[in-house]
Amino acid sequence: MVDGRISRTAPAFFPVVMPVDASLVPQRELYTGALMPAIGLGTFGSDRFSAEQVAHAVEGALEVGYRHFDCASVYENQDSIGAVLRDFPRSQLWITSKLWNDKHAPGDVVPACQQSLAELGTDYLDMYLVHWPFPNFHPPGCDVSSRSPDARPYVHSEFMATWREMERLVDLGLVRHIGTSNTTIPKLELLLRDARIAPAVNEMELHPHFQQPELFRYVLNKGIQPIGFCPIGSPARPDRDRSPEDTVDIEDPVIVRIARDHGVHPAVVCVKWAVQRGQTPIPFSINRNEYESNLASTVTDPLSADEMRALAETDKNNRLIKGHVFLWKQDQSWEDLWDPAGVICQ
Ligand SMILES: NC(=O)c1ccc[n+]([C@@H]2O[C@H](COP(=O)([O-])OP(=O)(O)OC[C@H]3O[C@@H](n4cnc5c(N)ncnc54)[C@H](OP(=O)(O)O)[C@@H]3O)[C@@H](O)[C@H]2O)c1
Repeated sequence: MVDGRISRTAPAFFPVVMPVDASLVPQRELYTGALMPAIGLGTFGSDRFSAEQVAHAVEGALEVGYRHFDCASVYENQDSIGAVLRDFPRSQLWITSKLWNDKHAPGDVVPACQQSLAELGTDYLDMYLVHWPFPNFHPPGCDVSSRSPDARPYVHSEFMATWREMERLVDLGLVRHIGTSNTTIPKLELLLRDARIAPAVNEMELHPHFQQPELFRYVLNKGIQPIGFCPIGSPARPDRDRSPEDTVDIEDPVIVRIARDHGVHPAVVCVKWAVQRGQTPIPFSINRNEYESNLASTVTDPLSADEMRALAETDKNNRLIKGHVFLWKQDQSWEDLWDPAGVICQ
């Protein structure tokens, strides 16, 4: 203490993180030539954090240097986030939103996007994703046994009817890019065959314990950028997405050791690994020290080749967001949602 005030040079008991110069954050080039920040802030409150808490995090994240925000209508907080974003120069932001499953009918796509635009306080989106490749609806906050009575498997002709409207959003100037989410290789094969405007990204679960190497390589080879959700292993995820066999990335001994060597939390190692591997992680947090350290990890010294190799070997093929609530048959394995045999499950 100096004169009763905390000295600016007082020793810190936790790593002090400075705001990051947003222009130094790595970027990904999309096939259109557009540049997207290689880290974004997730905004799903996991049914735990209120819209106000998430919007407050967005405000803080802008202050510390985030420019990319991963939003969705089903997160039920876009209007609160929009109230924050609308005060920031639009050209410096990368805003993603997503079409929810109950709006796949062709007549619903443009109005759903317009509603997200209104909520987010912008006249265009940088990226608009089809949140899931199924029209199977589940209400926010539901439990793992919830099923939509008219749930059905992937039907390519129906998905293409939705995609044609997604393409129309680009034609109308309402969105700059369109993309997929939770979409497997066999579904992407059909989409790439039939699309007039190809997906620019595929948002997929990616963290050290779930690296999806085949899908990761596939999308990059097709000029599609992988966006990685649950990059920390989603320790605060809703109960419906928890299974007894799930592993915990941030308790992995390799990740804990590397974190100790770098003087950071294991979560930060997960984020740093993700950016260095080549995906775009969208970590969520409402805690400033957490989202600030996550962003700072993208501009500090890289992990060594040995550390990257050790992290690659932590993969446990442990999918966390299994998607039970989107199943369409009684007694069906959640694995059917993910086409494990390389063909679309019916
Ligand atoms: N497209 C899709 O279908 C889909 C699906 C799921 C998620 N997403 C998107 O992906 C985003 C991220 O996923 P997620 O929120 O499930 O999981 P996540 O980012 O892997 O985990 C978030 C949690 O990690 C902890 N955390 C974050 N940074 C930390 C740090 N530096 N140190 C310590 N702990 C830290 C926080 O836990 P505490 O709160 O306990 O501190 C936070 O709640 C979502 O917000 C959403 O935007 C998309």
